[in-house]
Amino acid sequence: MHQRFNHAGLSSNLVNYAFMSSTTSNTQDPTIRCDGVYKIFGDNADQILKSSGGAVDAEKFKEQGCIVGVNDASFEVYPGELLIIMGLSGSGKSTLLRCISRLTQATAGNIYIDGEDILSLNNKKLIELRRSKMGMVFQSFALLPHKTVLENIAFPLQVKGVSTKKSIERASEMIELVSLSGRENYFPRELSGGQQQRVGIARSLAIEPDIWFLDEPFSALDPLIRKEMQDEFLRLQGVLSKTILFVTHDFDEALRLADRIAIMKDGIIEQLDTPANIVLNPASEYVRKFTAEVPREKVLKIETVMEPLNSSDEISDLKISKDAIIETVAESVLSSDKPLSVINESGEIVGSVRASKVISLLFGGASQATAEQSVGQGEAGQTL
Ligand SMILES: Nc1ncnc2c1ncn2[C@@H]1O[C@H](COP(=O)(O)OP(=O)(O)O)[C@@H](O)[C@H]1O
Ligand SMILES: [Mg+2]
Repeated sequence: MHQRFNHAGLSSNLVNYAFMSSTTSNTQDPTIRCDGVYKIFGDNADQILKSSGGAVDAEKFKEQGCIVGVNDASFEVYPGELLIIMGLSGSGKSTLLRCISRLTQATAGNIYIDGEDILSLNNKKLIELRRSKMGMVFQSFALLPHKTVLENIAFPLQVKGVSTKKSIERASEMIELVSLSGRENYFPRELSGGQQQRVGIARSLAIEPDIWFLDEPFSALDPLIRKEMQDEFLRLQGVLSKTILFVTHDFDEALRLADRIAIMKDGIIEQLDTPANIVLNPASEYVRKFTAEVPREKVLKIETVMEPLNSSDEISDLKISKDAIIETVAESVLSSDKPLSVINESGEIVGSVRASKVISLLFGGASQATAEQSVGQGEAGQTL
């Protein structure tokens, strides 16, 4: 089982000391596997797709009365991984999520969950799979207005046949988990948007799903609450380690949360990679436009500014992970008078990082070079 990044990071003298290999080199069996998945809306979509031989052109399909939702999606999601599906409105994010959770039936392709071909499941098995393995959270919260917070959260458990006593116990635990203690008997209308979404999150977690589907869960919230909910979400994921598909149209949100990001356009996954690779090596012009403005410190890891250790170096006791995202630990590095120790997965010190390196990254290599040059010229000037 993977351990994940602790994105939020700081704990006493240990910063971001939790790891997950967020690369694709993965020896585990995937939790989710999509193989050539298509979703085409419209009468005769099946036929038209078959006669196209899989080479789907959205414009041509439109002329034939079909709308392309998902176009040949193939990818895998590993246990404990948080995959973000990113893209503009209408790019097919929700449709892809709905195919995998089988809220909608894919037109073609194969989808496996823990190795099981879910497109071949009958209705009974499908409902069982959804109730036992999948948790879902939607932008609209989708709470039951005439039920209290406690009742809303206990509801899916009762549907599953859990006793009233047990479901109330479990719902109460979930309320504590999402920091809503004291609001058990409120109705949804008496809660703020952020609180309502906490109920949505608690309800989806009550059944202890292995896989968590979240479709723009924070998009309806104002920016401050949204940030707070992202932190809360990372905290929860740090504890729970679910396998997660998370849809957003907000690239900043994607960068904050993702292990990997899939960028969609017109139903096609244009690139699926780590945040750093997407920013540093965009696979297409479309992806490049998305990433052009992204500050490097939001995606690069400490190891990219780390220096080898000299035994004579005086370094701080404060330790940071080589996998920590620079932005999350920049403050600690900058406020220390000594270089910080950088550690690997096993907690061994593998290097150090100086404030000047981080400053140079934050304010750009060019300005650093200029500064060094002008110091050099000044000295030269004095000797003349
Ligand atoms: N039930 C539907 N019937 C017809 N077209 C749909 C349906 N659902 C989605 N679409 C179309 O599929 C495309 C992708 O939609 P969607 O997955 O909702 O995008 P996103 O979630 O990225 O905003 C859009 O063109 C949308 O209009
Ligand atoms: Mg959507």
